[in-house]
Amino acid sequence: MKWLVLLGLVAFSECIVKIPQRRVKTMRKTLSGKNMLNDVLREHAYRLSQISFRGSNLTIHPLRNTRDILYVGNITIGTPPQEFQVTFDTGSSDFWVPSDYCNSSACSTHVRFRHLQSSTFRSTNKTFRIIYGAGTIKGVVAYDTVRIGDLVSTDQPFGLSVAEYGFQGGRSDGILGLNYPNQSWSRTIPIFDKLKNEGALSEPVFAFYLSKDEQEGSVVMFGGVDHRYYKGELNWVPLVKADDWTIHVDRITMKREVIASSDSCTAMVDTGASHIQGPGRLVDKVQKLIGAKPRGSKHYVSCSAVNTLPSIIFTINGINYPVPGRAYILKDSRGRCYTAFRKKRVRTSTESWVLGDVFLRLYFSVFDRENDRIGLAPAM
Ligand SMILES: *[C@@H]1O[C@H](CO)[C@@H](O)[C@H](O)[C@H]1NC(C)=O
Ligand SMILES: *[C@@H]1O[C@H](CO)[C@@H](O)[C@H](O)[C@H]1NC(C)=O
Ligand SMILES: *[C@@H]1O[C@H](CO)[C@@H](O)[C@H](O)[C@H]1NC(C)=O
Ligand SMILES: *[C@@H]1O[C@H](CO)[C@@H](O)[C@H](O)[C@H]1NC(C)=O
Ligand SMILES: *[C@@H]1O[C@H](CO)[C@@H](O)[C@H](O)[C@H]1NC(C)=O
Repeated sequence: MKWLVLLGLVAFSECIVKIPQRRVKTMRKTLSGKNMLNDVLREHAYRLSQISFRGSNLTIHPLRNTRDILYVGNITIGTPPQEFQVTFDTGSSDFWVPSDYCNSSACSTHVRFRHLQSSTFRSTNKTFRIIYGAGTIKGVVAYDTVRIGDLVSTDQPFGLSVAEYGFQGGRSDGILGLNYPNQSWSRTIPIFDKLKNEGALSEPVFAFYLSKDEQEGSVVMFGGVDHRYYKGELNWVPLVKADDWTIHVDRITMKREVIASSDSCTAMVDTGASHIQGPGRLVDKVQKLIGAKPRGSKHYVSCSAVNTLPSIIFTINGINYPVPGRAYILKDSRGRCYTAFRKKRVRTSTESWVLGDVFLRLYFSVFDRENDRIGLAPAM
């Protein structure tokens, strides 16, 4: 870790000197060029335009579905804006993108933030490390203007990775965490909290609609809920604790048999997870009930059997949420069918599951920070 701190000091003390020069240059350019007023306005307004829907201010932001595994959306950082594709992740609270200093292979295949080219960039010496299921990153905390569509957060703290282990081949440059602030490894205010505190959102909620098969159509919305994306009423589920998007599950059944959560368990509602994850022993049981055969890291079934497979039913706050075979079976690049159940890597003393995109494609989800609850309803 020492080399990291050193890198922070050397690299970033250098750019502290360079920033003022850059700023002067940018100002001159915009003055002689165009839209200086616009730039200034953009930096200072929290939001410039709003989409109104049924009396509420909503920002509906498109996400791209990459093979039903990952959903990524565009955001920008800096002045002038630099674009990144990030995963909007309810399972974590930190926001980071690769830095120009990162030469890990995962960084060189993704867009890296060129901090010297941003006039609004501010560095710090604060380093952090985050361990995800998919890998680990090390980085430094910085500040700059961040935009998610028409939502603008000025002087937003975020992470710049200087080393990444894992994350290779992913379509996403970085991760934008939407979990509660006290889950933050970098101990900085998440972008949603900053926007909320500054009154940039009409309601402190966000929601996800995740499309199936198609690349287009998925959205994350901020500041309200667009009712066109779900059927019927939202069922509200209180959080286990007001510091994490985790809820109680009454029971998990298959073929009328309680197969898990017989004595209640918890589940994290995690847009950054592709699959449904559970304790190893119980996931083995599910694979067996489905009749899936292990090959490599996955469990396969015959594609012709998909429509005859039993639904797995999550009962949450007294409501049944069935997940049919056609939802929990995914196709690999060679067209073979595998199950979307995974063993959790981290063992916990109590039974806990992760409801990832497999579940969230079926159920539109609302994350309500005002009432510390999650709303679920069948997706359109
Ligand atoms: C929408 O935003 C505008 C401007 O920020 C505000 O005046 C209005 O009250 C908001 N509407 C709702 C329903 O929150
Ligand atoms: C992100 O931006 C790129 C080009 O900058 C565009 O091709 C792509 O469609 C955008 N993605 C989404 C989900 O809007
Ligand atoms: C990354 O770059 C730095 C200097 O630019 C160098 O010292 C370091 O060895 C490089 N690391 C890797 C993993 O290539
Ligand atoms: C980084 O640390 C050095 C040495 O402690 C200090 O002089 C410098 O002001 C710090 N820079 C920032 C941006 O905090
Ligand atoms: C997390 O934050 C919430 C509200 O901001 C607070 O009620 C809760 O006690 C905090 N939890 C921890 C572990 O700090």
